[in-house]
Amino acid sequence: MSRPKVLVSRALPREALDALGRFAEVVESPKDEALTAEAFAAGAADCEGVLISVTNRVDGAFLARCPKLRVVSNIAVGYDNIDVAACTARSVLVTNTPGVLDGATADLTWALILAACRRVAEADDYVRAGEWGRSPNPFLGQEVNGATLGIIGLGRIGQAVARRASGFDMPVIYHQPERAAAAIEAACRAAYVTRDELLQRADIVTLHVAYGPPTHHYLGARELKLMKRTAVLVNASRGGVVDDAALVAALQDGVIGAAGIDVFENEPHLHAGFAALKNVVLTPHIGSATMATRAKMVGLAIANLIAALTGAAVPNPVNPEARTRRGDSS
Ligand code: DGY
Repeated sequence: MSRPKVLVSRALPREALDALGRFAEVVESPKDEALTAEAFAAGAADCEGVLISVTNRVDGAFLARCPKLRVVSNIAVGYDNIDVAACTARSVLVTNTPGVLDGATADLTWALILAACRRVAEADDYVRAGEWGRSPNPFLGQEVNGATLGIIGLGRIGQAVARRASGFDMPVIYHQPERAAAAIEAACRAAYVTRDELLQRADIVTLHVAYGPPTHHYLGARELKLMKRTAVLVNASRGGVVDDAALVAALQDGVIGAAGIDVFENEPHLHAGFAALKNVVLTPHIGSATMATRAKMVGLAIANLIAALTGAAVPNPVNPEARTRRGDSS
């Protein structure tokens, strides 16, 4: 029996490609850079599976060009790059990689909290420029120790961020649509508050929500104005959760103190104004980017893909109903 054909949209470690190659005919992306939409659709046109990252967009137009497609395996926990309803309508299974990147993303969140509060990037520039000793700059920042941490979204990553806060003796408050279980609140030492109360009380606000219609511009001009003028905002969740135009204006006008931002609307393009601001630390969507975590994500994505193509139980289906429609096993 011929092996199913699978497009891999990014360069992956050889061992990962070999593992996949035992089950599938692998079409490798030539370079480790995002494929254009055209190259992605052309490459996947006769494939039964695609192994992709968040830079690849799967929508109705893409699906129409890939009639044999059975599975889209996303190497990410978030899947806002995929039109899941359109996939389900065509009986295409979507899978993701939850659970394995919580610690790494929480670590990066803390890197941004510390860097933004203590002006680390700005101070680094100053030293490299040979300014130390020539011009005065005390680099006074915001105290992290004992500050109130406001977490929006106390899911797996939000909880990992909260647990790390105890080392900084920080009171933790959180908000999400539904209050978390008492055991989670206790483990995180986190108190439930309304969104507006969180924005008004927190010294540091960090976002850990998925992107979608309910969270589009979840923080805009009105919400930023509710925050303290000294407050620090961190976003390592998804671009679009924050209104970037409103955030740039708030940082320019001193509406809030500083920000640490890993994700943007319209990535990889930055909203005009970000790059010139000194009170924001910018990173290029690297929340999960450690060698160990990326290896786990790739391993899980390949396991999802192989299971979907061989009719085995799929570890992380996003739309399991797609397989039922097709008549595959679960
Ligand atoms: C995720 O897993 O959603 C990350 O943001 C991808 O890099």
